[in-house]
Amino acid sequence: MDKLVIDGGRKLYGKLLAQSAKNSVLPLLAASILTDERVTIFDVPAISDVSCMAQILRELGAEVNFSGGDVVIDSAKATEHRISSALTRELRSSVFMLGSLLTRFRRAACAYPGGCEIGLRPIDLHLNALKRMGARIEEREGYILCSCDVLKGAEIALDFPSVGATENILLAAVKADGTTRIEGAAKEPEIVDLQQFLNAMGAKIEGAGTDTIAIEGVERLRGIEYRPMKDRIEAGTYLLACAVCGGEVEVEGVRPDCLGLLLHKLRENGCKIHTKNDKIRLASGGRLKCNRKIETMPFPGFPTDLQAQATALNASAEGCARIVENLFETRYKYVPELRKMGADIEVDGRNAFVRGVARLHGASVTCGDLRGGAALVIAALGAEGVSDVLDLSHLDRGYAGLSENLKSLGANIRRVRV
Ligand code: UD1
Repeated sequence: MDKLVIDGGRKLYGKLLAQSAKNSVLPLLAASILTDERVTIFDVPAISDVSCMAQILRELGAEVNFSGGDVVIDSAKATEHRISSALTRELRSSVFMLGSLLTRFRRAACAYPGGCEIGLRPIDLHLNALKRMGARIEEREGYILCSCDVLKGAEIALDFPSVGATENILLAAVKADGTTRIEGAAKEPEIVDLQQFLNAMGAKIEGAGTDTIAIEGVERLRGIEYRPMKDRIEAGTYLLACAVCGGEVEVEGVRPDCLGLLLHKLRENGCKIHTKNDKIRLASGGRLKCNRKIETMPFPGFPTDLQAQATALNASAEGCARIVENLFETRYKYVPELRKMGADIEVDGRNAFVRGVARLHGASVTCGDLRGGAALVIAALGAEGVSDVLDLSHLDRGYAGLSENLKSLGANIRRVRV
């Protein structure tokens, strides 16, 4: 078990290139078994969610080889349609496998998915959509068992623009009989990336990035080489870190419009932001002002995956902020840890009321989930004195080289064995 030791108060200066997007690479890996030809994905981030997804593909009988940051998947010999419960519980994205397993084998079995403990995270939208496409679904002893004779194109209206359900439907519909239309689809940039990946394989999909996506089933998909989009949440996390610490940082690889309302909120805080193509430069000096209100919404709203980090910023800014978390029920588990550092935050259901304090102080804090962990790191970087950040397994799920990257920007941060 490792911990981060952070001596706060250093300004951050320099440039970073964002890693490939975790939330894009995971569904792309799930999509790789839609063909029995070889698929290469370039620059996959060295994070444990990717290793776990690779392990799931190996369990199905695919060969998965990492080399020089790329991954090559050859699923020609894959025959297994069941994902073990240990792996499903470790990674919520294993639920994407239902769509691609049904397409490939007409059968799929996985345990109820795990992932971050940030809310109920039901999968009813996924299962109802698959049923509409002709899948039979049974739930037995904690397992979801799906089968079909043939997947048929269907009209599917999502009650909520679920990212995962939209992606799962794409994976089930690419080779289905006829055309599938999704109304009320999620519009996140990662869905556009999945559409591009699948279309490069020979799929016929239109409309990703809008409310309506049309997928015309095709006979076969071919192997490809693909470079995924960069990680907008990782980029946003480093920008927020620089905002809190002061300094000037440029992050490359992410288009500003992919960050939803983040840049607008950072300007409200008093940061100076310049953007050019896929480069975002943020300068921060002096005490920041609190945002009056930050409310998480599906894309293009403020991303829930940056809520915790933005709360950490407000914790030591001037004034009061109200944070509203609309996507996940229990995404404030990091708040008691921030309080150990002197934060004044009260949580009431979906609301967190932040009264900014002059400065946070170092403390020993424990990560409870991926983005909550990132919030603790940001708070520690800006705090006075030394903090220990424990249980890094959560951060390792989504941030490759976090301490090295922050160190390269001038942070006083060390990863040590405990
Ligand atoms: C994805 C992202 C995650 C991000 C989230 C919202 C990946 C691997 N993960 O998660 O980082 O925080 O989008 O941007 O891409 N819901 C249902 N029934 C369902 C499915 C979802 O009620 O069948 C609800 C969820 O409980 C939640 C909301 O819909 O309240 C959003 O969930 P969803 O968009 O599906 O998130 P994920 O795909 O799990």
